[in-house]
Amino acid sequence: MPAIDPTRRDFARIGAAAAVAQASHARAAQNPEIAKAMEATLAAIPTAASDPARPVYHFHPPANWNNDPNGTTWYQGWHHLFYQFNPYAAAWGHMHWGHARSRDLVNWEHLPIALAPSLKKGELHVFSGAAIPGPDGRPRLFYTSIGNRDPEQWMALPADDGLFTWKKYPGNPVLTLSIHGNRKISDWRDPFLFQEGGKTYMVCGGNSTARRTGGGGEVQLYEAVTNDFTRWRYRGPVFEYHDREAINIECPNLFKLGARWVLLISPHKPCEYFVGHLDLVHAKFVPEMRGTLDPGGAYASNISFHPAPRCLLWLWGKTESAPGSGWDNCMVLPRVLSIGADGYLCQTPAPEFEALRGEARTSAPVTLANQSIALPEKFSGDCLELEAELDTGDAAAVGLRLRCPTAGGAGTQVSYAPKDGMITAGTVRKLVGTGRRIRLRVFLDKRVMEVYVNDGAAAIFTVTGAAPDALGIEVFAKGGAARLESLTLWPLKPAKFSLDRFKV
Ligand code: FRU
Repeated sequence: MPAIDPTRRDFARIGAAAAVAQASHARAAQNPEIAKAMEATLAAIPTAASDPARPVYHFHPPANWNNDPNGTTWYQGWHHLFYQFNPYAAAWGHMHWGHARSRDLVNWEHLPIALAPSLKKGELHVFSGAAIPGPDGRPRLFYTSIGNRDPEQWMALPADDGLFTWKKYPGNPVLTLSIHGNRKISDWRDPFLFQEGGKTYMVCGGNSTARRTGGGGEVQLYEAVTNDFTRWRYRGPVFEYHDREAINIECPNLFKLGARWVLLISPHKPCEYFVGHLDLVHAKFVPEMRGTLDPGGAYASNISFHPAPRCLLWLWGKTESAPGSGWDNCMVLPRVLSIGADGYLCQTPAPEFEALRGEARTSAPVTLANQSIALPEKFSGDCLELEAELDTGDAAAVGLRLRCPTAGGAGTQVSYAPKDGMITAGTVRKLVGTGRRIRLRVFLDKRVMEVYVNDGAAAIFTVTGAAPDALGIEVFAKGGAARLESLTLWPLKPAKFSLDRFKV
């Protein structure tokens, strides 16, 4: 074996480190807005990381504020998640696109901020958008550019195959309001793209000014006329939404799921979904079934295929963290989306999260005679997954109380009322249908709670606001006798969030 000359090896190492530092300085000089934004983010980490209420396995940025998931895509074995990000504060503002990647949906590498506002070009915010494979197979990003002017749709291209660095298309904007001719659109934003029959389409949210007084919104459809996506044709309003409470539609996602088409909308209240078919000849989406995606604090959906046909749903999880925490919000656990036998959407947490499970703790069946029973200490915690099945018997309501204070107190209730078919998680209510038995799957992650009912027929993201030492769990039946048939609890390990690549 040839001897290794340590001097030469050290020189090589120093040389390589110097080259990396030089490249990094060059990148920082090219992207001063991104370099500044990342410095501000790093400065907020100690405060954010010291908050015991911050989730540990729900995806979250290094610090400060996030909202919508953007540009969710699976490329070369990596899940890429971009997101609306304010690097400067734990409050909405200065919208950038944060970026992270994961092999398994659970553990993430934070990557350099992908997009910052081009202040010199009058861009103040990089609003939400989506990714689509370009002609070379690499993703392209589309987003709404916001400034002191009308909104515009802009495109960005990756500068490398790892998707670490992004360049805005020099010919931006690719779409302006003028594409609609005489049709006036307000709040025009949030492009989402899909490919069908060899063509590439985009939908955007907004509202036609003429209809605004009546409430509701519209989804507009466009078709790419060049395969580099730089020129587009307006196809018309593919969907109209009539609802007095809605100002407009945000973040529309239109995509094929099996043999059906699904439209998700964020109408300034809980996201709604429609299952139906898409007539691309007449540019019309025809809804047949309708439902609420999540009645809790989940909003602004996005979609990725991993690879098709597995369809993943991404949502912003609103955490309402305390002022001064150095962070606010996270992503809802990515959900596998399917259409149930009844034709409605079904959402289940990605099974990858089972990798975080510690040793299972199983309870024997418990009879509940119009009472609440505190479970033994091994069934407690604020970072766990729990599965329970209850037979409602003749009770008016059955369920669980989580995050109960040791000194006694209510905790956060997950309750099912069999007669009216209503599930309540904290303050959030959802109709799930009447039935004698109920299956609950609950995820607790510090301040965050997610509840999945009857194998994904309903899904609720909410927050608990419990004190850090409120860790107890109770089962209860009210107004009659019921039975806890089974209960399994797994303590969950925190996911890994690496900052090794969070540098320009
Ligand atoms: C939805 C939304 C989008 C917009 C983005 C701005 O939460 O309002 O319509 O693009 O957030 O952060």
